[in-house]
Amino acid sequence: MSSHSSTENSAAKPKAENSPRSDGEHGFIKLPFSATDMIENPICDAAKPRADRLRDRLARGLHFSEHGKSPTTVRQSIAVSIRRALLSDYPRIAAFIREAYEESAPFKERERWEWQFVNNPYLGSEDGRVPVWIAEVPGKVVGQIAVQAGAIEIDGVTHPAGWIVDVMILPAYRGLGLGHRLYTAVAAECPILVTLTMAEATRRMAERLGAVDLGEVKLYSRLIHLDGRTVQRYLQTRTTYHPRIRMAANMLCRYFFIHRILAGAGNILLSLRNTLVGRPWARNGTHVIPTDRFGPEIDLLWQRVQADFPVAFTREGKFLNWRFCECPQMRYRLFTAFRDGKTVGYMVLRESEPVELPHGIIVDLVAARQDRSTVEDLVAFALEFFGERVAGVDCATSIPEFGDILRRFGFQSIRTERPNCVTADPAVQERLEKSSTDWLFSKADHDWDQIHVG
Ligand SMILES: CC(C)(COP(=O)(O)OP(=O)(O)OC[C@H]1O[C@@H](n2cnc3c(N)ncnc32)[C@H](O)[C@@H]1OP(=O)(O)O)[C@@H](O)C(=O)NCCC(=O)NCCS
Repeated sequence: MSSHSSTENSAAKPKAENSPRSDGEHGFIKLPFSATDMIENPICDAAKPRADRLRDRLARGLHFSEHGKSPTTVRQSIAVSIRRALLSDYPRIAAFIREAYEESAPFKERERWEWQFVNNPYLGSEDGRVPVWIAEVPGKVVGQIAVQAGAIEIDGVTHPAGWIVDVMILPAYRGLGLGHRLYTAVAAECPILVTLTMAEATRRMAERLGAVDLGEVKLYSRLIHLDGRTVQRYLQTRTTYHPRIRMAANMLCRYFFIHRILAGAGNILLSLRNTLVGRPWARNGTHVIPTDRFGPEIDLLWQRVQADFPVAFTREGKFLNWRFCECPQMRYRLFTAFRDGKTVGYMVLRESEPVELPHGIIVDLVAARQDRSTVEDLVAFALEFFGERVAGVDCATSIPEFGDILRRFGFQSIRTERPNCVTADPAVQERLEKSSTDWLFSKADHDWDQIHVG
């Protein structure tokens, strides 16, 4: 990621006074070590990136105040304020997003930002504020944590809640405690915060605030059909942060056509699997009907099955239609399942965009927990729907019964996520600590299903 743009150079240079402004919480970050020591004599490899960052800042003339008597005791103070953003901050947040997210930035731009943080039906009266907390130096946003508002139903009672999303600090400002400060500021205003997929650093921020572990969510995948181009793209994506391995993989593809060999061998194994497992098409008499929007029948379904999922972010129609029909850039397909004239389930599917690896996603699937017939028919329908157009089909679930059915259809668990919750409500904390395995989670939760350039 580029951290040395000319914008940053000029914006980050403090003015002589560089004193805290009056529009929010401020703090001077005082590093607990000598910057010069770190630069000249990095103590260990782990310290080196931090030393590199400090060297960057020295080179760019960021504000340093000298407290020591010798050059080795130069200590650094950078004025960084933390506050909740206003809608009018959008242009500066947009500049931050472009710099921080680089090639993924187009998938986080205005239309999506407004859908997620301004037109979200679970936001209250915000008085011009948006659920985005920013870290800023004079004239420039350098970090953020945002909250995607939602509602949690716990044992039939609805609580306002939010997903921690878009946790990002510009590279030059990492490792200075800004992540902790931002998370603490968010938690002071939001009574229930949940995170499903997260980096280790984000987990540590939540743990410092007493996060409750919410059990496991398994990501399942079923390989369908491979081609050389997809294997090559996959290898490139997986080696993004390992330039040497990436170069080796590129050479193997270029001179030895390893991607084609892998795709061919993979397809032979997949045919073998299909012969052994058989074509897993269930037929339990469920009618799966596409729909443009979910209607009142989905609210009735959710009321009926809710007791099977005692803790869940709501699946009422208001949420589903906002999440899937109004979401910009992403094209979701909605399906309702009927049997014997009754609505017995629903499912949301998405086929990846051309910038992503070609795969199909069962984004959300809800039916009564013990209703095997409906879940089987919905999974079978999804596999038929994607056909051979995709390299694989993914589905995530926290529900073991749904996981069993996915495995019967040839899905394999490829990753396990461990979501957590930070709450200021002692009753909620106690309830979650008592049983963390009651949650319903899928790719409809958090911002898990978003465009991943691959
Ligand atoms: C994740 C990120 C926001 C952390 O911000 P930060 O200001 O550097 O974090 P802090 O300095 O407040 O440190 C927070 C905690 O994370 C730890 N941490 C920081 N970077 C880490 C890393 N690369 N790996 C593991 N832990 C890390 C810190 O040690 C600290 O934990 P501790 O207090 O228990 O020691 C920042 O590194 C970033 O923007 N990364 C790229 C985007 C990203 O990964 N976002 C998270 C998506 S869930």
